[in-house]
Amino acid sequence: MRICPLCGTTTHVRICPVCGTPTVLDTQEFISDEEEPAGVIDHYMLIKELGEGGMGKVFLAKDIRKSRKVALKLINPRKINDPHAVTRARRGVLACASLNHPNIVEVYDFKVLENGEWLIAMRYINGTPLDQLIRKHGRFKPSAVMYLLEKLADALNYAHNKGVVHRDIKPSNIILERDSSGRIQPVITDFEVAKWFGSIDNQTDPTQKGFLIGTPSYMSPEQIMSSGEVDGRSDIYSLGVVTYEMLTGINPFRRPDTIDTIKAQLHIAPPPLPEEVKRELPPPFVMLLFRMLAKDRDRRIQSGKSIVKALKAMSSMV
Ligand SMILES: Nc1ncnc2c1ncn2[C@@H]1O[C@H](COP(=O)(O)OP(=O)(O)OP(=O)(O)O)[C@@H](O)[C@H]1O
Ligand SMILES: [Mg+2]
Repeated sequence: MRICPLCGTTTHVRICPVCGTPTVLDTQEFISDEEEPAGVIDHYMLIKELGEGGMGKVFLAKDIRKSRKVALKLINPRKINDPHAVTRARRGVLACASLNHPNIVEVYDFKVLENGEWLIAMRYINGTPLDQLIRKHGRFKPSAVMYLLEKLADALNYAHNKGVVHRDIKPSNIILERDSSGRIQPVITDFEVAKWFGSIDNQTDPTQKGFLIGTPSYMSPEQIMSSGEVDGRSDIYSLGVVTYEMLTGINPFRRPDTIDTIKAQLHIAPPPLPEEVKRELPPPFVMLLFRMLAKDRDRRIQSGKSIVKALKAMSSMV
């Protein structure tokens, strides 16, 4: 069975018969409770690998004590060369665990295992990461982008008001899942994780090898220049890059070479939207997108709340 990531319709066909969005496989069908465990760590039974990022692997697992599915992120400490990282991570996990928003993943547990690996348990999101959806299907319909942006901006606004800045907003950290009423929800994962790795506050040369903690093609100019000093507006910029990519299928700053990507983030304006995309959007939405992408954070749209307000004002135009 397939499922529409936007409206939740289940179907056998590749294009949703209700809203026209490309459908994805419903992965829940393939995970049976009887499946052979791939191993046991602490009180978690590993079921299967979900993916691998720069810091380690993520597994679907079963929390044996609570009898629920979780996503387990296992981080290899050899990739972290900062003695204060564990303390920062513990503090960060506590801050993230206090976030309670439908579009932010719940964090359940953090521990350092006997072999030195770090374990982070979070709610398992039974959905598809946005990077996979963009890779597979190219661009999204404007109405879908506006719907997703409103949810994501609201989630960031909530976190920023609680003093939590994400620092690594990008498509692989946004998973689309269906909620209990069948509506699609984008869920943001990995809040603050980029902050835990490495003492980078004193670095001033962004071209220095090993300097960047985060993902250059989504990073705000101020994060590239001085990662210790970012505030919520940096996440707004990254969300702007994600929005541009959802609309066009293309990251406006990504270049084959990382240094060129960094230079583009710092100095090159995002290319105008293709005419065929622009035609389908209300003009104020195009303005909003480019205000999110302002290089100077003081000229950027300042908060998730302002984005939500702007989107609500234009909802009658689509
Ligand atoms: N809570 C979760 N529920 C379900 N799947 C998840 C969850 N968290 C992560 N994943 C999956 O695991 C994959 C790997 O995640 P991970 O955060 O390690 O890497 P990444 O985000 O792709 O890259 P990076 O290391 O640069 O952040 C993700 O793409 C996603 O598919
Ligand atoms: Mg991630």
